[in-house]
Amino acid sequence: MEQKQNITTPGKVVLITGASSGFGKSCAEYLGNSGYKVYGTSRRPGNGMVACEMIIMDVDDDLSVKQGIRTVMDKEGRIDVVINNAGFGIAGSVEDTSMEEMKAQFETNYFGVFRVCREVLPIMRKQKSGYIINIGSIAGSVGVPFQGAYSASKSAVQNLTEVMRMEVKPYGIKVALIDPGDFKTGFTGSRIKTKESRSNPDYADRYHKALTTMEKEEENGCDPAKLAQLVAKILRKSSPGLRYMVGPAMEQVAVHLRKFIPSKWFEMIIMSNYKI
Ligand SMILES: NC(=O)c1ccc[n+]([C@@H]2O[C@H](COP(=O)([O-])OP(=O)(O)OC[C@H]3O[C@@H](n4cnc5c(N)ncnc54)[C@H](OP(=O)(O)O)[C@@H]3O)[C@@H](O)[C@H]2O)c1
Repeated sequence: MEQKQNITTPGKVVLITGASSGFGKSCAEYLGNSGYKVYGTSRRPGNGMVACEMIIMDVDDDLSVKQGIRTVMDKEGRIDVVINNAGFGIAGSVEDTSMEEMKAQFETNYFGVFRVCREVLPIMRKQKSGYIINIGSIAGSVGVPFQGAYSASKSAVQNLTEVMRMEVKPYGIKVALIDPGDFKTGFTGSRIKTKESRSNPDYADRYHKALTTMEKEEENGCDPAKLAQLVAKILRKSSPGLRYMVGPAMEQVAVHLRKFIPSKWFEMIIMSNYKI
């Protein structure tokens, strides 16, 4: 059914975190070329995208997030759409993940989303309109072996999104989550391997098998432009759903399958997929 156009029609101001690569870059290009006024963030300067204005922001840092949002507000006086996309992955068994590494993963993937939301929600409530799209992951619904920190951070984003959506509904703010499966982006190359996973022989064989499988699946994954098209489609909806999955069909099927088969069977499927 054709959805009514809403506050998020072209011309509106969009802020995308992590727009220097992958999904963020694709969304910035797609929305910028569709007539939105797009601001993209990166921790580093010097990104020459034409469809979007880049600003420096580190989602790990309170002050940096405040300054980035202030920059957009000073220029535009409003923020209509925020896409919380900045993130990265850490690989290693739970035992081989240090407290510092676990905290670093949550600092960006979870607290980064929280930080940006805390800054933009008062602005959007004042505007009585806004749109927040959080980028989660299918790994938030299906625990991926040797990606415990990452999976947990994305589960946390899923729940935060669900809760926030209900809380801000009366203020005209719409909140949605996109859970991508495997895509070919800079994510694979940026993945951090935990220190102990490099030296602990006990998990080494299974860790390497799982890591090789996930890297291969990402390298053969979908084009990030597919996610950008989904974002544009969601922004045209006056009443978006809570959660959208995008990516390889089999990964989406797995998320549904787990509701219908015994958990031990599901675990066997996942372990056999990662060859562990
Ligand atoms: N690719 C996949 O298969 C996949 C699947 C599911 C979910 N995801 C999620 O999709 C999102 C985007 O990832 P991607 O695949 O597009 O990876 P990517 O190509 O590596 O891009 C990651 C982006 O996040 C930014 N970033 C990382 N840490 C940041 C920080 N502390 N502060 C600000 N920006 C930061 C990077 O910007 P700078 O380095 O320039 O600062 C970069 O623009 C992530 O949340 C990821 O977890 C990816």
